[in-house]
Amino acid sequence: MKRNLLQMILLSSMMILMGCTAASEEDLIDATPIPEALTFNEDVKPIIDNNCITCHSNPPQNGAPMPLVSYENVKEAVQNRNLIGRISSQNPAFLMPFGGQRLPQNLIDIIIQWNEDGLIEE
Ligand code: HEC
Repeated sequence: MKRNLLQMILLSSMMILMGCTAASEEDLIDATPIPEALTFNEDVKPIIDNNCITCHSNPPQNGAPMPLVSYENVKEAVQNRNLIGRISSQNPAFLMPFGGQRLPQNLIDIIIQWNEDGLIEE
């Protein structure tokens, strides 16, 4: 009896392990899209338009030091004005949007990925 129970436990753990292996193989096959670089026009501009240009318009408003309306503006701010640091910050005094809520992490991740992909325009 005791031996049977042990065998059952062993057998079911093996089945679970095998099940997991099979599932993750499938997941890998299914969930691997052909990697496509993010672009400013497709992926980044909508985020900036929705969250930043009330102040970072051209000319800028509310004390913002520069516009973020064009590809060149945003690229320059990523490279020289710590845009990614400002939107990722946990410090409300440093965070952008100024005086607002931190962007959802998936949107922050898009901008980080866009930078890693090489700041492509379109
Ligand atoms: C309510 C107005 C407002 C909004 C909305 C806003 N900003 Fe700002 N932003 C400012 C002000 C004011 C400053 C200057 C003070 C400072 O640096 O904290 C600034 C500064 C910055 C700087 C630093 C510029 C420099 O030269 O140091 C960056 C980068 C920036 N903002 C990016 C963004 C991004 C990206 C968004 C949208 C996610 C955004 N801001 C939304 C008002 C705003």
